[in-house]
Amino acid sequence: MSDVADYGISIVESLGEGILAFDQMQKVVMANSYVQKLLAKSQDKIMGQSPEFLLADRPDLLRMLKAGLVQRQLFTDVDLVHHLAGGGMQHLRVNTSFLNAQTQAGVVLTVRDISEVKRSEWEMGQVEKMTSLGRLAASVAHDVRNPLGAIDIQLQLLGEDLEGVPDDLRLKLMRRLTIAQTEMKRMDRIVHNFLRFSRNPQLHLERLMLNDVVRHVFELVSPEARERNIELALELAGDMLAIDGDEDQLAQAVLNMTVNAFQAMEGGGTLVARTQMDLEAHQVCLVLSDTGCGISDTERDRIFEFYYTTKDEGTGLGLSIVQRIIYQHGGHLDLSSRVGQGTTFYIYLPVSEKKKNADNKGGL
Ligand SMILES: Nc1ncnc2c1ncn2[C@@H]1O[C@H](COP(=O)(O)OP(=O)(O)OP(=O)(O)O)[C@@H](O)[C@H]1O
Ligand SMILES: [Mg+2]
Repeated sequence: MSDVADYGISIVESLGEGILAFDQMQKVVMANSYVQKLLAKSQDKIMGQSPEFLLADRPDLLRMLKAGLVQRQLFTDVDLVHHLAGGGMQHLRVNTSFLNAQTQAGVVLTVRDISEVKRSEWEMGQVEKMTSLGRLAASVAHDVRNPLGAIDIQLQLLGEDLEGVPDDLRLKLMRRLTIAQTEMKRMDRIVHNFLRFSRNPQLHLERLMLNDVVRHVFELVSPEARERNIELALELAGDMLAIDGDEDQLAQAVLNMTVNAFQAMEGGGTLVARTQMDLEAHQVCLVLSDTGCGISDTERDRIFEFYYTTKDEGTGLGLSIVQRIIYQHGGHLDLSSRVGQGTTFYIYLPVSEKKKNADNKGGL
């Protein structure tokens, strides 16, 4: 009999979701370790507690639970968003059922943290949007560039025709012509830049070291850092494995984030780039930490949106491009921030497959 009970506990523990059961007295009679982790409370702090005490900071969960306990109302696959005290959000999928189906007494709450799923769904949506934006941009730019080319040729011919015109009139017309040509070049540049920003470039992958990319970008920005009174610090791990990456694209990503950090530290500050190796997850990580203005919780949800900017001169595409580049490399991004204290971005990238295979072969 105790074997069966033991199996029961193992099954509940292995479900990959949280189970929290309340009896008809509205006291906790069971909480598996998933729930303990989710609520950041140990078993003895949970058992025997009331819903109001346990879920005081999770009003949505409390409401669902009370609906079951008091009104006998159950819920299936309800998605909730919980704002974490230390910043960030947690997406939860919640179900309720009766502890005793016959008497409809007590409620079992099952809860699963689906933040990862939501994040990658959102990221994929972003990348998709970026790709369709790129296609649109490419077709508009193509259509705009052809007439621009034709105008340019006509202006050049006009310039040649002016050779035969009397001096005073020619000078006047030439001035107008030069202005028209300069403005046309400007327009061509705008179209060109728009294309460059929104195009979805093919990656040219090669085996490279993340440390080299970071070092390269920091060298590039160090004169500007000095001017802005910003101290740059490199803490590069010595045990890093190679990644399969496009050096230019990765440098672009790191540069965009570095520029953001500079702009966030108006009166100067410190930007630390730390790299670390996560052998277990087969990934490398770049941690970029600034001492800038920070990002509020509400802003945090928006900074990866296209054209979202808080700057007069910003296009709001910088982080979208970063996200797309990292995603194309099979990696992902994370951040933590405190308003007035600074922001830390985490860039995770998978280590080179070739290296892993070579390692495996070596191990056999
Ligand atoms: N390190 C940071 N510290 C504080 N806020 C940041 C940081 N990085 C990004 N942000 C916020 O995120 C917004 C979006 O950043 P993003 O790089 O996409 O666009 P941008 O910097 O405003 O314009 P662009 O990069 O196109 O010139 C910024 O306007 C800023 O408010
Ligand atoms: Mg930017």
